[in-house]
Amino acid sequence: MATRPKILIIDDEAVVADSCSEILGDGNHEVAAASDGAQGLRMAQDFHPDLVFVDLKMPGMSGFAVLEKLREIDPTIVAIVITGFATVNSAVDSMKQGAFDFLPKPFTPDELRLITRRGLEKRSLVLETMALRREKETLREHFAAIVSHELKSPLNAVQQNLFALGAELAGRLTDDQRSRLERCSARVNDLMKLIHTWLRVMSTDLDKVRENFVPTAVSTWIAKAVEVVQPEATRKEVDIHTDLQTPLARIQGDEGTLVEALVNILGNAVKYSRVGKAVLVCARQEGDQIVVSVADKGVGIAKEDLPRIFEDFYRGKSGEAPQPGSGLGLAITRRIVEVHDGSISAESELGQGSTFVIRLPALSQAQAETDPLSLPQMGGMR
Ligand SMILES: Nc1ncnc2c1ncn2[C@@H]1O[C@H](COP(=O)(O)OP(=O)(O)OP(=O)(O)O)[C@@H](O)[C@H]1O
Ligand SMILES: [Mg+2]
Repeated sequence: MATRPKILIIDDEAVVADSCSEILGDGNHEVAAASDGAQGLRMAQDFHPDLVFVDLKMPGMSGFAVLEKLREIDPTIVAIVITGFATVNSAVDSMKQGAFDFLPKPFTPDELRLITRRGLEKRSLVLETMALRREKETLREHFAAIVSHELKSPLNAVQQNLFALGAELAGRLTDDQRSRLERCSARVNDLMKLIHTWLRVMSTDLDKVRENFVPTAVSTWIAKAVEVVQPEATRKEVDIHTDLQTPLARIQGDEGTLVEALVNILGNAVKYSRVGKAVLVCARQEGDQIVVSVADKGVGIAKEDLPRIFEDFYRGKSGEAPQPGSGLGLAITRRIVEVHDGSISAESELGQGSTFVIRLPALSQAQAETDPLSLPQMGGMR
């Protein structure tokens, strides 16, 4: 806030505006007054007030309209409504619309000073919160920049050199040397994947994927995600079954990120499954929602872990053989689903298995054609 907080008084009663200006214009504040809403809004734009007193009942533009426009000019301005006894109810309504407090007429100088002090404290808090939020964003951006430049580039070089070395020495290495070289490559690849995941979490521009939204076929989305996890499932002898209702409405979304989200869920289902168990992916329409569920018969999730698994870096303690991971997959998935105006939930029984359910708004027939790929033969796909 400026060294001297700025206060704007918008009231058609000259006596109120003048007395407020006199009481508050004590050298500690910079005070300006307007006699109607339109003038007040013009002044709000030039004067940049911290706190605005608005009379609710004014000829011309009402106090409510002024409050709304003030929010458009600067949502961080703290507004206090001045009201006669007869309009206390409207004062409550205006607080519901974002006014910080109200001051019933007539008021004493002390009442005015007190409410002003509280309003300015609120303004300081609002500005502090905004500054912290900006700082957090900057930190995120810096962290992302450090990770990508300081870690990714040297690792890329290591990866390429290992690859070149492997090619140059092909045929001259003992089995043990080749296997050690391969282990180095695999570790570097894991690190690169981890960095990619971190950058994904740090990136603040997930909202930008909205710009790429198009009507998206649920069956194609699921088939692509299954394809990605299939090699790992095959290695673990886990069968992935799909059961898709037909026909199925499309959803409005970005296929790339949706696949990423489902791959995280399916990847977990395979990772936390025991060898030879099945995973079932179902998709159906419930009212105006598309519901996709992924059920496994794996190790399950402990009750105390369940509410936290969607948090950044949270990893459960299943009690069974530890699995590799960074605890970010579900956090990213939740963000992706929410960007698509959907929700994700999980149910689980320790030792029995888990079911993850994604709900997304279905496009109506009028919004998009029905999904042409959800034909019966897609059901039961492995
Ligand atoms: N299908 C599942 N069965 C059992 N536990 C699960 C399952 N899915 C998630 N979890 C638990 O939730 C935690 C968080 O999952 P998340 O996918 O975010 O992280 P991760 O799998 O540990 O690591 P990664 O970032 O590599 O995905 C896991 O550590 C695990 O304890
Ligand atoms: Mg995971």
